[in-house]
Amino acid sequence: MGIPDEEVAQVRAATDIVALISEHSLLKKSGRRWTGLCPFHTEKTPSFSVNAEEGFYYCFGCQASGDAISFVRAMDHLDFVDAVRFLADRAGITLHEDQEMGRDHKRRSEILDAMERAVTWYHERLLSAPDAGPARDYLRSRGYDGDIVRKFRLGWAPDDWDALAKALKLPEKVLSDSGLGFVNRRGRAQDFFRGRVLFPICDPSGRPIAMGGRILPARPGAAPPQRPEPKYKNSQESPVYTKRRTLYALNWAKQGVIERGEVVVCEGYTDVIGCFQAGVPWAVATCGTALGEEHFTLLRNFAKRIVLAYDADSAGQSATSRVYEWERKHEVDVVVADLPGGSDPGDLARTDPGALARAVKEARPFLQFRVDRLLAGGDLTTAEGRARAADAALAAVAEHPDDLVRDQYVMQLADVCRVDTTRLRQRLEHMRAYPGQTDRIGGVPGGARRHGRRTEDVPARDGRSSAAPAAPADPAAPAALRPGPGLEALKLAVHRPDDVADRVHAVLFTDSVQRQAFVALLENDSVHEAVENASPEVASLLRRVTVEEPMKGDPDLGDPVDSVVAVLLRGATRRAMAELERESRASAGDDQWQIRAGEAAQVRLWLDQLDDPSAGRDAADRLVIWLTERDRGE
Ligand code: CTP
Ligand code: MN
Repeated sequence: MGIPDEEVAQVRAATDIVALISEHSLLKKSGRRWTGLCPFHTEKTPSFSVNAEEGFYYCFGCQASGDAISFVRAMDHLDFVDAVRFLADRAGITLHEDQEMGRDHKRRSEILDAMERAVTWYHERLLSAPDAGPARDYLRSRGYDGDIVRKFRLGWAPDDWDALAKALKLPEKVLSDSGLGFVNRRGRAQDFFRGRVLFPICDPSGRPIAMGGRILPARPGAAPPQRPEPKYKNSQESPVYTKRRTLYALNWAKQGVIERGEVVVCEGYTDVIGCFQAGVPWAVATCGTALGEEHFTLLRNFAKRIVLAYDADSAGQSATSRVYEWERKHEVDVVVADLPGGSDPGDLARTDPGALARAVKEARPFLQFRVDRLLAGGDLTTAEGRARAADAALAAVAEHPDDLVRDQYVMQLADVCRVDTTRLRQRLEHMRAYPGQTDRIGGVPGGARRHGRRTEDVPARDGRSSAAPAAPADPAAPAALRPGPGLEALKLAVHRPDDVADRVHAVLFTDSVQRQAFVALLENDSVHEAVENASPEVASLLRRVTVEEPMKGDPDLGDPVDSVVAVLLRGATRRAMAELERESRASAGDDQWQIRAGEAAQVRLWLDQLDDPSAGRDAADRLVIWLTERDRGE
């Protein structure tokens, strides 16, 4: 990309992040960091923090986080390059990107030209080429008439090696840069799409930037293919195409979206077309990726209400765990269309278009949808069933960041499950204070997280959990951000690295994001480097712990490193022991059983020794070794 890495680093280093942010929000020094009201969301008490030395900010309210460049991007709606230019200007640094930029622009417009010509050529083929007969039959069988085919500019890629390359005579570089083709091992130009129906993907202004290609269904009685092909094949990313920032059909849906202030998000191209056919022409789809941050950034400019229309089984799961965060950050409402089981919008548009339009119209808030699912998955006819269902649904409610919203659901649950509201509120508060430990208190039987496995690592399966009889787990909130010993240990690892060396270990973290963050700190030379090389989730967590002060020592309680290590170690050991006991039960009677029982006895002994002033350290080391070996499956 345009600006060389060294210059970006130079701009970052030359920027005083506290001065920069102070232009938007008053910051006060507090210990080693600066705090103030968050410039990204409305609040009355400061939850925004800046670490000037590392150059990061983090908001405990809305989880916005980043460095000077991302701050400018978010604040001024600039892309990366423009944000760097802005900061360079401020700092009086000259960038050497100008001649680069010209070249970049030329390359992009060559690709766009090629895409446009290719879409037109493929479309013509579909409309009139003799070899496109089966494709036309297939589309007709799906209920696509000429109007649909022309509106969405559908195409047919002939089953040839190089039909497009030959017809368009594209320079090899443009052919491969655009993803339309490549140069094969024998040095000849070859097409990327062969024997597929094509769905052109456009930018919001309607210029084709990529394509998705679907195979035709096998003809009845035909021999199975030698090498099975994936149903869809999509363009690779290119200088004009970034999947996570693109929404299929936004160009056609734009107007409807703006008129209604609402956008329907589907999973597939055919789902979008189905929506258009069913009288819902304000639908888009992600392009083979999950709905993510950047889609929200794009959509919020068009609509404040986002309707997820996923097939019944994946709704609520694919809908990501960060919906609440995005709702707040981007000031949108996310609602879910409840489609009849087993159907996607594409199918439903064929069988019952009215039902599709209705499902969109009656879409419910994300949390309501999940609560309803959890309740529907339970047995409300028995006392135990109602209590368990209430508990499972409450765990979902506990993850909502807004207390007024939570309370609305508490009253609903109390009503449906015939439980006392006060009890539910207490239990909810407990769940929020001690996430993941709901089985500690009595009251409603059956903790929401009773599976012996680490529920944080298991994707949510709303109300469809196969792990009955325990209530379904539903870890939708970013578990990594919840207060607790894991987060505390990470803070210590950032702020007191020497004191935690040799004492905190990766196996002690149950949350996988926290574990990755810890490993990133170990593997990189600085926090900055760790953030740079980490996934967005891990980077955000690291920035947060960078702006947070770790707990202070206390004459009564001693050094927090000791207590945090002790809690983590006990927790990790208990979980591993529970697993070991399960294995032991499963192997009862065979010769492994003896070994496992001996192992368990030894571990119990070490646990007992943990508080012993002379043997404690040694027992802790041994437990860590034991945990590490188990973790590696040794
Ligand atoms: N997808 C993909 N690669 C695959 C399968 C799916 O990229 N091998 C993406 C495509 O963007 C597709 C979307 O995931 O549109 C949804 O896939 P799926 O539900 O399997 O297909 P449908 O959209 O239902 O397509 P159809 O109705 O034609 O079967
Ligand atoms: Mn489908």
